[in-house]
Amino acid sequence: MSINSFGHLFRVTTWGESHGPALGAVVDGCPPGIEVDAALIQHWLDRRKPGTSKYTTQRREADEVEILSGVFEGRTTGTPVQLMIRNTDQRSKDYGEIAEKFRPGHADITYWQKYGIRDYRGGGRSSARETAARVAAGGLARAALKALAPEVQITGYMVQMGPRKIDREAFDMAEIERNPFWVPDAGAAADWAEYLDGLRKSGNSVGAVIEVVAKGVPAGLGAPIYGKLDTDLAAAMMSINAVKGVEIGEGMAAAELTGEANADEIFMGNDGRPVYSSNHAGGILGGISTGQEVVVRFAVKPTSSILKPRQTITKTGEATEIVTKGRHDPCVGIRAVPVGEAMMACVILDHLLLHRGQVGDAGGRIG
Ligand SMILES: Cc1cc2nc3c(=O)[nH]c(=O)nc-3n(C[C@H](O)[C@H](O)[C@H](O)COP(=O)(O)O)c2cc1C
Repeated sequence: MSINSFGHLFRVTTWGESHGPALGAVVDGCPPGIEVDAALIQHWLDRRKPGTSKYTTQRREADEVEILSGVFEGRTTGTPVQLMIRNTDQRSKDYGEIAEKFRPGHADITYWQKYGIRDYRGGGRSSARETAARVAAGGLARAALKALAPEVQITGYMVQMGPRKIDREAFDMAEIERNPFWVPDAGAAADWAEYLDGLRKSGNSVGAVIEVVAKGVPAGLGAPIYGKLDTDLAAAMMSINAVKGVEIGEGMAAAELTGEANADEIFMGNDGRPVYSSNHAGGILGGISTGQEVVVRFAVKPTSSILKPRQTITKTGEATEIVTKGRHDPCVGIRAVPVGEAMMACVILDHLLLHRGQVGDAGGRIG
């Protein structure tokens, strides 16, 4: 089965395991002539890199990307782009115990039940190291967006850690780059630092909610029914490790609203483009972008590898206990932010290319 790919025209296939020699992505369908080099992609990978603060895993990976094909003299050629990241910090001894025991909350038991064989070192293919490949592909998608739709800006940030939410009144975009949590609220950053430190020291972990916003997305991306922009966005976000919930715009909270409150009223703007009174829809109507901000949120579960002993079973079915030692993120939400941004970039570019292919500039004008 070939189920390691996503995207329609900008098609990303990732490969590799956490403790193999390398992992990476093959990107097929990237338009030719896009200016890109390893340094440009590296910029995005450095944001996901482990060990950047005491709040992320202390695994030391350089996460250096190499471009093996599809780029000539600093520009894409239209042929498959092969991106490779070598694994440099595999300590298999940290993972010896899990060869026999299934770690609760991990894919150990289901991979075993499905395949009858698994690379137990650090989770193998199910390890979130795979997300480095997505971030590399997302870097290429961003380069293509810069050339084809320069107004598109993609930003991700954390809006909740455990039960602690940001104060939307204190929202400050500039704050995102200033703290280790990618949180747009200085007060929350200070509070979360103390909170996560306590959890980390006690060997525990916590979940989070990440919001990813794409500004400057033109109206008209997406397609009705089976090609909805929101369908592809939800699938992209849900495919990230540890993600347990995805919502677009108002999301689950839309169920609490009346039709009157939820209506994004439409007015004619001064620049000849429609403007909306609000964005409960998250920038998507009928599967097609409205031209407003595209807003996606996803929830990640707490890191499963914790120092608290948990009950489990062995491969032979015996009851046992497990403490997952090794180096782990106390809140995977932090490093999931650049991953969510990368998935947004890939999906938006993919739909831009689909739109260009099907309708070109045939869209209806208003006014
Ligand atoms: C960026 C990122 C980093 C992660 N790091 C860890 C980690 O250090 N320890 C851990 O137990 N899980 C970590 N996870 C989550 C596991 O990969 C994930 O829970 C596991 O593969 C089971 O898959 P599922 O949660 O999607 O069902 C991470 C997830 C992401 C997105």
